This record gives sequence, structure tokens and C-alpha cells, in this order.
Amino acid sequence: MAKGLDVGTMNILSAQQDGNDTVFVQQRNSFVEIDYSDMAEQMLSRSEVLHIRKDDKVYVVGDDALNFANIFNRETRRPMQHGILSSDEKSAIPMMKLIIEQVVGEPDHPNEKLYFSSPADPIDSDLSTLYHQKTLESFIDDMGYDAEPINEGMAVIYSELADNDFTGLGISFGAGMTNVCLAYYAVPVMKFSVARGGDWVDEQAAQATGTPVDKVTSIKEDDFELDFETDVGGVEGALSIYYENLLDYVIERIVKEVDEEDVEEGLDVPVVVTGGTSSPDGFEALFRDHLQDANIPFSISGVSHADEPLYSVARGGLVAARSDEEEQAASGGAEAEAAADE
Ligand SMILES: Nc1ncnc2c1ncn2[C@@H]1O[C@H](COP(=O)(O)OP(=O)(O)OP(=O)(O)O)[C@@H](O)[C@H]1O
Ligand SMILES: [Mg+2]
Repeated sequence: MAKGLDVGTMNILSAQQDGNDTVFVQQRNSFVEIDYSDMAEQMLSRSEVLHIRKDDKVYVVGDDALNFANIFNRETRRPMQHGILSSDEKSAIPMMKLIIEQVVGEPDHPNEKLYFSSPADPIDSDLSTLYHQKTLESFIDDMGYDAEPINEGMAVIYSELADNDFTGLGISFGAGMTNVCLAYYAVPVMKFSVARGGDWVDEQAAQATGTPVDKVTSIKEDDFELDFETDVGGVEGALSIYYENLLDYVIERIVKEVDEEDVEEGLDVPVVVTGGTSSPDGFEALFRDHLQDANIPFSISGVSHADEPLYSVARGGLVAARSDEEEQAASGGAEAEAAADE
């Protein structure tokens, strides 16, 4: 067995195979701190509530954090920001450990392969992903897995472009970041991220309209469409404007990076878009239109949208982990033979 894990700014998901099905387990990457004295013991003894008690504080973690925050009138906090561990959040690591333990469970056997997603270094900020990646690798190893990072954009290619020999451009529009990867026969030839995604859209639209960010996020996630027909001057109108701006920004950076990386001309590749931020109706068409207007120096055979945008990255991690495990089993057999010959 093997597992895939998508470690995202908003959502953490695991993927594993069960017969012919892929099973996903998801939690929000979020928590809330509550005074122990305010909390009725039986609320927590409901066994499903993920929580840690530390001194006189209780931390409710994952999907339940928002409910508890509403009940106790507290703000939720997030362990990650812009795709990596938040340097402003001192409790980030224990909270994420708890969420990850819950979504991946115990390893099936010692050193089970687990591929976890990690963003590429952003080209538009000084953030480095190294500390984030190494920290995750070490605590997932401590859970008994053999953890390997996989670039988030590459995971999209493993998940969505298997039928095209793992060749194409994969783009994951997440909460904290957008990750881009161009691969040629499963070899990444260009990968980068930008430190903008759904959170950025929400913050901009909130600021422009004087609306609380949480309100903007729920309007966006609740049947908002990119049709440019509604609500000029309202939140939906502002969301559309910043969505379009995000797309242009990402496309501009792709053109620039392709130029700099000297990507072979004459390529003809498909593009696949995914991630929670790609969910609204109209996103794929808008992206296709804007890409057409851009000056990409290779040809694009088509733009498609992942069927399950929240699951792509975890599924891609699983594909990579399984293929690694199979290879290891094959070469392990050969190594054992070689050792026997010595
Ligand atoms: N139905 C929806 N419509 C619009 N936006 C949505 C919808 N569902 C989720 N989102 C947005 O998608 C984002 C979360 O997507 P995703 O889970 O892919 O990100 P992540 O992997 O947690 O973040 P990152 O990859 O940037 O670290 C959030 O900004 C969320 O508001
Ligand atoms: Mg993501």
C-alpha cells in the first residue's frame, strides 16, 4: 500500500487505494483556542472532535474548528499561510501534526511510502519552502511512514495527465498559492508558484467592498459564478474582478518563466487547471479565453478542468507513491538476488 497527502493552506487530504476505488479523507487546516473552563467536558468527549488540551486551553482542530469558533465567539487560526507553515503562528506544527495523523491514519506497514505535496518556491515573494518541506518530512517520517515530497504542480500532472504520458501544463489554484508545472514525459521542465490564490482574491474583494473576509469567502464558495453579468459594485462583482486579475497574473508569469527557462519551442501540450479556486462555473472558459490572448511560445492542444478539483493533488501523490513502491518492490527483488549471489 501507499498514500498520497495534499498539504494545503486551507485543506489537508489523504488519498489511498481501496480495491478499485480511491478513498479520500479531508480536514480543514484550521484550529481555534478555547479556555478549558468555558468548555463543557461532554462537548469534547464526542469522540470525533479533534482536539488537544494544553494546560488551561483546549485547541479544537480541523473541520470542527469553525463550529466551535462560532459557538464560543472566537476566531479560527490557520497553521499555514501562502502555501507554507506560517511564521506568525507558533502553534502551527502541533496542530498540523494532529490533522495529518487523523487524515493519514497509521501506516499499513513500517515505512509505507507517503508522497506529500509541497509547493514550488514562489517567484513573487522571498518565501522559501525548504523549512516547510523538511519539517513535514520529518514529522511524517516520525509517524512511521517513508515520506517523500512531491511538487504540487507535478502531482496535478500525475493525477490528470496519465493518458497523455504525463506531458502537459498542470496548474493548481489553491488558497494560499497557485502552483504551475510543465512536464514532459513525467519530467518537470518548469515549475514555480505565485503567492496568490483564493485567499488573495477574498482579501482584495473584502477590502474593496468593506466586507468581512469570512463573509466574502462564503459568498464565493456558495454558488458564485464567473459570468460577469451580476452585481456590479457588490461582493460578487469584486470577486469577478480579482478572479480575472489572478488569472492574468498567473498567465503573465507563465509566459515570462517559459521564456526564461528556454522551454523547447514546437511543443504541443494540454493544460489542466484544478484546485479549489478553479471551482466556480465559468472559470475554465475564462482561463481558456485569457490564455488564448497571451503570447505563450508553444502551442496548447486544449484546456481542461479536473473533475474533482479538491482531490487532484492528493490523488497525484498517491499515483506517485504507488509507482515508487512498485519500482522498489521490483528492484528490491533484484537487489535481494544480487546480495544472494555475493
Ligand atoms: N466552490 C468553490 N468556489 C470558489 N472557491 C472555492 C470553492 N471551494 C473552495 N474554494 C476555494 O478554494 C481554495 C481552497 O482550495 P484548495 O483546497 O485547492 O487549496 P489548498 O490546497 O488548501 O491551498 P494551497 O495549495 O494554496 O496551499 C480556497 O480559497 C477556497 O475558498
Ligand atoms: Mg493546494
